[in-house]
Amino acid sequence: MTEIIKADQFKEGAALLKKGELVAFPTETVFGLGAVANNEEAVKQVYQVKGRPSDNPLIVHISRAEDIFTYAADMSAEKVTLITTLIKVFWPGPLTLIVPTRVGMFGPVVTGGLTTVGIRMPDHQATLNMITATGFPIVGPSANISGKPSPTQSKHVYHDFNGKIAGILDSEPTRVGVESTVLDVSSSDHKAHILRPGAVTASMLRQAVPDLEVQDFEFRQLDDAEVPKAPGMKYRHYSPNLPVYAVSTEKIEYVIASLKGKNIGLAASNQLLENMPTVNIKYKLGSSIAEFTHGLFDALRTFDDNPELDIILVQLLDDKEENQAYRNRLLKASSKVFE
Ligand code: TXA
Ligand code: MG
Repeated sequence: MTEIIKADQFKEGAALLKKGELVAFPTETVFGLGAVANNEEAVKQVYQVKGRPSDNPLIVHISRAEDIFTYAADMSAEKVTLITTLIKVFWPGPLTLIVPTRVGMFGPVVTGGLTTVGIRMPDHQATLNMITATGFPIVGPSANISGKPSPTQSKHVYHDFNGKIAGILDSEPTRVGVESTVLDVSSSDHKAHILRPGAVTASMLRQAVPDLEVQDFEFRQLDDAEVPKAPGMKYRHYSPNLPVYAVSTEKIEYVIASLKGKNIGLAASNQLLENMPTVNIKYKLGSSIAEFTHGLFDALRTFDDNPELDIILVQLLDDKEENQAYRNRLLKASSKVFE
């Protein structure tokens, strides 16, 4: 049995972590699957229970922003200034920074043998308390079976890992709903590269550091021989067992008409669903991009657990910056795109 740990019982979670157990934890983005980052056996367990490919490095979570300088290698004064600004503006929050790792801090099981490491300070008080009580950073890939939608509610974690991990630090559904922006600031020049889109966008980064050269994330299919900069981005992700079609607002009626006889689950804006009487299994995503992003993974999981359904349709929003993280996760989950 997996123990559900109340937020104010975070010390219990820390005690389990210190014993080498796995404890899932909430953040503002998605739930993570925690293990103490210097416990090699525990970290190996994280890969094992997730079924995660071992060449995909983990990120580490810290509870005090300035600790990044303890775990990162010594950097140029210019880099230190850049990172100081970024953590002041965006931490705690949905931004993971890829920095050169201090030699000897994290084993290859964490970094995948790279000379860099991803570090972030999540915006969730109970989790920050648990990390502080643990006394060392904790690794935290999303707490889902590899390839499935990331968990945004404790019940999603329970669904995937009940009986397989020691505990889940309980919480309300996560605020953002998709994983953090991964920003590579490990190069020696004044450049930064978004390796995974999230709630922190290129515009927000440029506003915070006007002279920073930000290379935005580009979505494209990699061919098999290509090695992506963020190893995790090469895998098909977030994908339910049922086929998922991503469909633009204009094409939804057409696609539904073409699926006559199939039982469709449709996740879309409240407004669009009101005008869709022929579909009877619906998930309301709300009206703003924040609401869409917040609900996407729960919609995919809810539909996937519904034995009546044959197919999942999800409304695809326009290709603009604020929609980037939502589109990226939906496109990765989809077997077909109608746009
Ligand atoms: O919001 C989040 O970031 C969540 C919560 C739990 O904090 N965590 C999360 O972890 O999404 P994970 O492991 O699912 O995703 C981390 C991403 C992966 O795409 C991984 O390949 C990439 O960061 N990554 C990790 N270390 C890296 C490194 N040294 N260089 C480049 N990419 C790295
Ligand atoms: Mg993940």
